This record gives sequence, structure tokens and C-alpha cells, in this order.
Amino acid sequence: METGNEQKNGDTIMKENEESAAGVADAADVGDVAAAAMASNIAGAAVSAQTAFEGLQLPKSVLVFDTTLRDGEQTPGVNLTADQKFELALALDDLGVDVLEAGFPASSDGERELFRRLSREGLNAKVCGLSRACKPDLDAVLDNGANYVHIFLATSELHMKHKLKMTRQQVLDAAVDSVEYVRSHGLPCEFSAEDATRTDMGFLKQVYCAVEGAGATMLNVPDTVGVSVPRAYYLLVKEIKEATRTPISVHAHNDLGVAVANTLAGVEAGASQVQVTMNGLGERSGNAALEDTVVALANAYGVGTNIKKEHLLSVSQMVARATRVHPPRNKPVVGENSFAHSAGIHVHGVLAHALAYEPYSPETVGQKRRIILGKLTGFAAVKNVLSQMGFDVTDEQAKQVTAKVKEMGDAGRRIQDFELVGLAEKMVGIQRKAHIALGQVLITTGNSIMPTASVKAVVDGKERTACATGVGPVDAALNALSEVSGERSAKLKEYKLEAISGGSDAVCEVTVTIEDAEGRRRSGFAIGQDIVMASVEAMASGMNNRYSHEDNRKAVAMAKSNAARVSE
Ligand code: KIV
Ligand code: ZN
Repeated sequence: METGNEQKNGDTIMKENEESAAGVADAADVGDVAAAAMASNIAGAAVSAQTAFEGLQLPKSVLVFDTTLRDGEQTPGVNLTADQKFELALALDDLGVDVLEAGFPASSDGERELFRRLSREGLNAKVCGLSRACKPDLDAVLDNGANYVHIFLATSELHMKHKLKMTRQQVLDAAVDSVEYVRSHGLPCEFSAEDATRTDMGFLKQVYCAVEGAGATMLNVPDTVGVSVPRAYYLLVKEIKEATRTPISVHAHNDLGVAVANTLAGVEAGASQVQVTMNGLGERSGNAALEDTVVALANAYGVGTNIKKEHLLSVSQMVARATRVHPPRNKPVVGENSFAHSAGIHVHGVLAHALAYEPYSPETVGQKRRIILGKLTGFAAVKNVLSQMGFDVTDEQAKQVTAKVKEMGDAGRRIQDFELVGLAEKMVGIQRKAHIALGQVLITTGNSIMPTASVKAVVDGKERTACATGVGPVDAALNALSEVSGERSAKLKEYKLEAISGGSDAVCEVTVTIEDAEGRRRSGFAIGQDIVMASVEAMASGMNNRYSHEDNRKAVAMAKSNAARVSE
């Protein structure tokens, strides 16, 4: 754990519920505001943390209840296989989540098998199963190896009348019976009053007090339909906190775009657990994103978690690959642009002092700073990027490359690495032959034949041809290209296809990342209307983009000495 704060697990919390006669949170868990302010990077800001959080009893740390594999899997269009869920569960456990809600065991055989498999793994996180307040659901959780049970039952008039067709008394009885049933099996039991934010406050408190009496170990306050805003959610959580003695959890949906803000407001009001999902996946507009919540808690509040923040990006990418829901470029923390800079003034500032335009350093969340060249980029950025690539150019040369970059940017182009390398090579006077020059590409595909491709190319000056099959025309063509290039060990690590105009004649962009036998990664890019050809060209450009920083540095030195010899 990162801040050296004492962290509680579900058992500790359960024990607290049982033992805390006074019914107040353990004083050791409540940090003083000054300590939070010290740890926080808003201290010393226009409004210091000390002022911002005055009067609040912020905890030193909170528990992270991850529901990526349950609420996250409820994202419309997402279906994970049991194997995918298993792999993701292991990754989330490694990430450091305290409670891992792996699914809804009553829903399918596959879900139940997943819980049995996970129970054999001995994860650090509690493995939680979701259940409605009824015995068959509860048994599905209890009988399949979960060691934490999450019961939910709606309490708003709307849900009780139209969905459940239950009276208040029936809801109260079902909630109490279910919690008692779980507790009689000796497991921790979290209770969620579904649609809490639209529930009558008097009844809501009655429900939470009743389940607390039945032994609930955590009271979760869901904003099921995402209707709340931070001020209102803060007051709601505070009122529940004051009416009960059991630890409080918060669960926010993002329909108004404030799920993370509501979650933070819940912590301000005394919640000791946050329910979150990776990449903010979840029903409709999603849940509060784990990564945003954890980073905001740490950086702005000085509130710790057990999350290993440096793994956030890799876990986010794993979740995105499995769910095929990719966070937008401007997504906080894990977005491609989170630490990317392009505009001249910003690049200049960041190069002078990273914190000038970064809230915290990218490495803390597994990211890297990137300078993206475009029409707003200035000379300092171009010179810096070129020097990172091994091209130590003069100011005059950097100015000329900058002018070209701006020209391409004005034409609406995104400048790719290999294009910059081309510009630099020209500027410095380096002449390199392309490793691979594509010749004829022939593809056959259809609904009843195996997609096959043959590729002819000049590879290091020799003409070569190769044939390959694949699962589709793109796969076949890329296999044939790997064969013809002689780089059979090169692995295609990433393949991204984006349509930049609509219709079946759309112009598309293909970006690939290739990893060679030594583990070096190179990217390639192409644009065109034919997806297969754009893919082949992107792959070839990646294969040609083979020069390391050291290769470039040597080539520059060689070009300089050649030029000196000629002028003698
Ligand atoms: O949003 C919600 O109410 C839920 C409950 C199951 C906690 O996801
Ligand atoms: Zn939810």
C-alpha cells in the first residue's frame, strides 16, 4: 500500500460492525485534514486542501470494490467469456482491488463455474457474487465459492410499485431475511438499496437500519439511474452515515457525467468504500471509473487505496481489448491523450518543467509523456522529438522541419513518426534504402474459400514472393507480408482500423504496432480506401520504420563526416 496508511479488508469491516458498540468509525481510520492536505497536490493551490476540506472527516484510505466484471459487464453490447472474466479477475486482483464482484452467479452455469474457478485461486481480493434478495440467488452465491455476498433490493416507490410489485413491508422483510441468511453462513454481506437516490429518505433509513440490525457488514448507496449531483449525493450519504453505524459504500452511475464527482462527494460524506469499474464501464453511460476515482482520491484528497496505480494503464488496456470498448483518447488517466502535448506553448512549458502542463507524472499510472506534432507545434517540440529519435539537428534544420510539419498539419494531416524520420533524413542528408518495397499484392477471398494472399516485394534489394492464408483477407495479406519480409518472428501487437469518412467507400486509417524478435516495437501507418491494401501498407511502413535512436545517431554522424569530406 502506497501511503503507509492502515487499510481495512472486508473482515475488519465486518468485525467493526460487530464490535463497534459506540457505532462510530474507528478513529485510526480518519485522517486529519492537515495530513490529507500535505499528501495532496492541491495543497498550496489557490484554494488549499486545508481550506477545501475544512470540517470534513476524510479517511486515510478507502476500500475499492471493483464491479467491472458485474456492472461493467452489463455495458450494452459487452459479453465476456468465462475465460476472459477469469483472466481479468486475476489482473484486477493483481491491481489491488479489495473486493472483486465477479458476476451474478444465479444468471448462468458459466457464471457459477467462474466463481468455483476463482475460489480455487486464493485471490487476495474478496470474491463477491451479486444476488437478489431471494434464496435461490443467495444459494447460487453461497454454493459456488464466493466469500463475499452483495444483495440488492430496490427501495424507491417507482421500483417497488412497478417493477417488484412489493409493499414497503415486503421489501423490508425480504431485505432482513436475506441478510440474516447470508450472515448465518458466516460471510460478509453488503446490502444495496437499489435506486437509493430516488427513495423516500425516511424509508431508506428504515431499510438501512433494518439490514444493519440483521448483520449487514457494508451499506451501499447506489445512484442507480445516475440522477444525483455531488451536493445532493453528499447530503444523502451523510444522512445515512449519521443514521447507522456500519461502514458505507458508494456506487454512482454517470448519466449526468458526474459519477466520479459523486463518488468523491460520498467519500467526503464519510463513505469508506467506493464501487467502481475499470474504464467507467457499466449500464448506460457507465459507472464511476476506478482509475479516475483512485487518482483523484490520492492526488486531490490524500486518501489512499490498495491500488497499484502504475498498473492502471495496462489493466485498462486489457479490459478494453476484452470488452472491445476502448476509452476515448481524452479519457482521464488512461486515455491516449492524457499525457500528450501538441500546442507549442504547452510543449515548451512541459519541456521546461513537466508539471507546468501535467497534473502529475505519467509514470505513476503507467503512462508515458508524448509530444504529438501538428500545425500548432513549435520549433522547440520538433527539435526535442527529433533529438529523442537520435537526430541532433541544427536550429535551422529544426525550423525547416517545423515549417513542413505545420504545412502538413494545415492540410489536416496527423504527422506520423516515419514521416518525421523521412523529413529529418532529408534534412540531414541521410540516404537509406527502404528495407521492403511492396510490389504486387493479390488476395482471394469469399464465402466458401480460405482467404489467401500472395505478396511480391523487393526486400533489401532482392525480389521475393510469398503466399499465405488467414482467417480473413487482412490476416492472409499480413501473414504473406511477414513471410516475404523474412521477419517471421515479428509479431503484430496492435492493429487499429479507423474509418475517417462514412459509407462503404470510406477512407480508412490503419495503425499497426509490430514487435521484433528483440522485443523492440515499431509502428506503421497507412491511409486509403481499400482496407486490405491500407493494412498491408501500414505493416510495410512499420517494417521499414526499423531504425533505433542509436542507428539514427550513427547515420547523422556519418552524414556529417561525409559532408565534411566533400567540402574539403
Ligand atoms: O446501480 C445499481 O443500483 C446496482 C446495484 C446492483 C448496486 O448496480
Ligand atoms: Zn450499478
